[in-house]
Amino acid sequence: MNPKILIIGACGQIGSELTYKLRSLYGDKNVIASDISYTNLDIVNSGIFEIVDAQDYESVKVCVEKYRIDTVYLMAAMLSATGEKYPMQAWDLNMNSLFHVLNLAKAKFIKKVFWPSSIAIFGSTTPKDNTPQYTIVEPSTVYGITKQTGERWCEYYHKKYAVDVRSLRYPGIISWKTLPGGGTTDYAVDIYHKAVTEKKYECFLKEDTELPMMFMDDAIKATVDIMSSDKADIKIRSSYNLSAISFTPKDVAQSIKAFIPDFEITYKPDSRQEIADSWPKSIDDSQARQDWNWKHKFSLEDITKEMLMQLNEKYKES
Ligand code: SER
Repeated sequence: MNPKILIIGACGQIGSELTYKLRSLYGDKNVIASDISYTNLDIVNSGIFEIVDAQDYESVKVCVEKYRIDTVYLMAAMLSATGEKYPMQAWDLNMNSLFHVLNLAKAKFIKKVFWPSSIAIFGSTTPKDNTPQYTIVEPSTVYGITKQTGERWCEYYHKKYAVDVRSLRYPGIISWKTLPGGGTTDYAVDIYHKAVTEKKYECFLKEDTELPMMFMDDAIKATVDIMSSDKADIKIRSSYNLSAISFTPKDVAQSIKAFIPDFEITYKPDSRQEIADSWPKSIDDSQARQDWNWKHKFSLEDITKEMLMQLNEKYKES
């Protein structure tokens, strides 16, 4: 039987693509998209859409009951850079929304939860290369603190109340359909837009800042894979390290130049540099590969090819 799914934060970068994918897998009537406002009209007009305030338990519960939801993907969050501007709002949004969904699962309104964590749980005391699953975790951003705390609560709810919650520590996600908002890894999306529209880009990180990254299709595949795996195969109930590739702004610029030879990049690091400097360069995700057979597909060259092709089309149409 198909799951009955609610996606909270469906207008966002990952939520929107997850909505399209889950609808194609489980049918339009089984996937309810929701967000706090009508910010992404493609999503709002593409199927069932509800206004849900992730910070309001009743708002989430009403929607869960209305559609007899059994699975929730909680994609609403304030990301790292915006979180530093609004620390208390980031804490409130990221934590309250998680508690509401975990408590709905504890009370047996829903059966299964997906909640994303992030490379932001790691901090400057974490080993930077091939960062292990279990290591020093001292995040320096509010966003990272909420994700680390959330991971602890996910594991707690699983152990104490048998809640089937599954989670991935996403790296920076690169996509062309919906823009990311307020993250430190956002440059790796912006750069492609500017390459297509202006043939130049001013990067807010230094040229040699290496960070773990992933193409959206791989991120969606990982999310669908972990959620459709047998319960017994999910051995980690805090959150899995997840990795594809790592690169620097200089590497992306070079890969763009292979297609747009006169593309130019300049560097003007801002406050996001400090955040990026506290995160790992690469991630050891062997546990995910072992437990539920995770494999990534897209290399930097594949990503550049796909991003430039799709964005060229997009800007031609508009
Ligand atoms: N992409 C996120 C950010 O930059 C990391 O999870 O905040």
